Amino acid sequence: MPQQTFRIQRYDPTEDRSYEEEFAVGVEAGKTVLDALNEIRWEQDGTLALRMSCRHAICGSCAMKINGSSMLACKTQISQAQERADASGAITVGPMGNQPVIKDLVVDMGIFMRQFERAETWLQPPPDQEPPQREFRQSKDSHDHWSHASSCIHCGACYSDCTVAEVDETFLGPAALAKAYRFVMDDRDSAKQERLQSLSGPGGVWDCTRCYMCVQACPKDVLPMDAIIELRAEAMAAGITNNHGSRHAKTFAGGVKKRGRLDEATLVPLSIGIGPAAIPQMLAYIPSAIRLLRSRKLIEAAKRHAASKDGRREIKRIFQEVEDEKHHDAVNAASYEALHEEALKAH
Ligand code: SF4
Ligand code: FES
Repeated sequence: MPQQTFRIQRYDPTEDRSYEEEFAVGVEAGKTVLDALNEIRWEQDGTLALRMSCRHAICGSCAMKINGSSMLACKTQISQAQERADASGAITVGPMGNQPVIKDLVVDMGIFMRQFERAETWLQPPPDQEPPQREFRQSKDSHDHWSHASSCIHCGACYSDCTVAEVDETFLGPAALAKAYRFVMDDRDSAKQERLQSLSGPGGVWDCTRCYMCVQACPKDVLPMDAIIELRAEAMAAGITNNHGSRHAKTFAGGVKKRGRLDEATLVPLSIGIGPAAIPQMLAYIPSAIRLLRSRKLIEAAKRHAASKDGRREIKRIFQEVEDEKHHDAVNAASYEALHEEALKAH
């Protein structure tokens, strides 16, 4: 049987010591990385620590870094991992990122789990509503909007690869935001406005850098980044625009619509906002502005002229098309709701 080398990142908490260790495991068709790790700890080194339970990509316990990316070990075939092995041919395995390591491949997921609590990811029906005789019914449209976001198995792979969580512990992270989206779009929930307000604050939807790592890491196609983008749109549609992120989005889109080009010179001041509250933030940008001036970037940005007349016309047409499409979707959703209501009454 051909052998495969696994280079495992280990951590011994008794000596506070990190080190790498290599193990060779026989490979056959259908064998997963989790099978290999179990073989190592059952037959070669019983001290290797890892989490697992279902072995069927359901419980979310076995997320870890394989060749540098977070994924479920039970869902990853050795043959797949071999395609991204390192230069020496070894498959590298390590604990998830952005969470403290307890031992070897086991991390403390407390920080990840607490984000769900902060995002209040539970249903909040109207407080004075009498419980129905059977169940709280929801519309199909509402369910269709968030069904993908409820497939999350809380494995933490998205949080592990999140580039914002890496530098900012206050960021709610992809999974909690996707779960919050699920409740924002649930028509049985009564706290939509309050949720959007708090999700638009520090650590919320506007802190995502859209690096796409969460979408790549997620083993359940939850598409957390898409949920974050939709939450931004929902918040702006609900009039929650007094924040850096939505001002940035509006200035960005407004500049492109008007001039056919991104207007970099006005982007920062208009995103920060006007008034005494904006002064500390303005001052904080001074070092960056000096660097941009020195590298002549600001001067180049200011010199940039608008797009050609034909170019601007084409861009306005694209904006119009997107706006018409949104209107069309809203009309369709409204007619569907009316039909659904009628069907329920007839029933
Ligand atoms: Fe795991 Fe995906 Fe849920 Fe993130 S969103 S915790 S990657 S299932
Ligand atoms: Fe349950 Fe891998 S062991 S998801």
